[in-house]
Amino acid sequence: MNNPIPQDIPASQITPEAVYRARRQLIGFGLATPLLALAGCAGAEETPPPAAAAAKPSDSKDGFRTADEPTRFEDASQYNNFYEFGTGKDDPARNAHTLRTSPWSVVVGGEAEVTGTFALDDFLKPHAAQDRIYRLRCVEGWSMVIPWQGVSLGDVLRRFKPTSRAKYVAFTTLADRGQMPGIRFPALDWPYREGLRMDEAMNPLTLLATGMYGKPLPNQNGAPLRLVVPWKYGFKSIKSIVRIDFTEQMPVTSWNQSQPEEYGFYSNVNPDVDHPRWSQRTERRIAGTASKLFAERIATLPFNGYAAQVASLYKGMDLRRWF
Ligand code: MTE
Repeated sequence: MNNPIPQDIPASQITPEAVYRARRQLIGFGLATPLLALAGCAGAEETPPPAAAAAKPSDSKDGFRTADEPTRFEDASQYNNFYEFGTGKDDPARNAHTLRTSPWSVVVGGEAEVTGTFALDDFLKPHAAQDRIYRLRCVEGWSMVIPWQGVSLGDVLRRFKPTSRAKYVAFTTLADRGQMPGIRFPALDWPYREGLRMDEAMNPLTLLATGMYGKPLPNQNGAPLRLVVPWKYGFKSIKSIVRIDFTEQMPVTSWNQSQPEEYGFYSNVNPDVDHPRWSQRTERRIAGTASKLFAERIATLPFNGYAAQVASLYKGMDLRRWF
């Protein structure tokens, strides 16, 4: 498989103990591929060779479309992270058929004038889905280029009239043991949770995706509703959202809670700030027809190439401290 973790290092030394134990259990239940083939957000890729310079001359000015070569649908829908369905890259595609995506509702709570439970169609109304083509950079060191359909998160959130106390937005994924076999194992403290600062949530780039490649989202990609925040590491793009809360305090997020020294709240893509256990300077771009194993390694760009659109959000912040 693709995880090049050296064979002489015990997985227990490079993987947080809870994740390691959960993986052992998953393997026992046939829900995961063998241990050394596993790499979630907790695993890394090999030390990269020098990267080719990444030129991005033809991205649209608003960042809504990159001209980078797209990833094939087969790769984007069969090489996934969705721990609720197992920690192996091919587990979500194999197991997520048990997720029931209709009917679906979203609870909106916290610091807003309009709160309650909304059927998905009402929650998204009246916004028509737009097309975006975004790079998605996983913290593990691979990246994809995916055509999404969805609505700007900010457009949706404004309708709930957040109050002046709303400084952050917290997101929660469904956690149903009956539908999600991975929930039985403590890979993370379920439900999966993520969060954004209010201005990040309102930025026009932040997308609530309902489809990709012109089709409804496959379950393994986070159907029926997921976040896509293209300038942040992929784990911020929370899947199968059932709850959104406006909060005054910075919300708890799953990876930060699990390994705070490795995964910060902000998690902006930043080639200058290494993950404590690996470099973030380059990425393996899974795109086009080349096999994933021979995917081109390219230089990772600050804010994943979206600095023109979002760098101003972090003016004056020390990005090493606020990683
Ligand atoms: N959302 C939930 N609920 N559970 C997860 O395990 N994994 C995250 C993110 N969203 C994850 C999640 C990670 S680590 C990544 S890289 C992206 O989803 C992967 O999205 P993709 O499988 O569509 O490429």
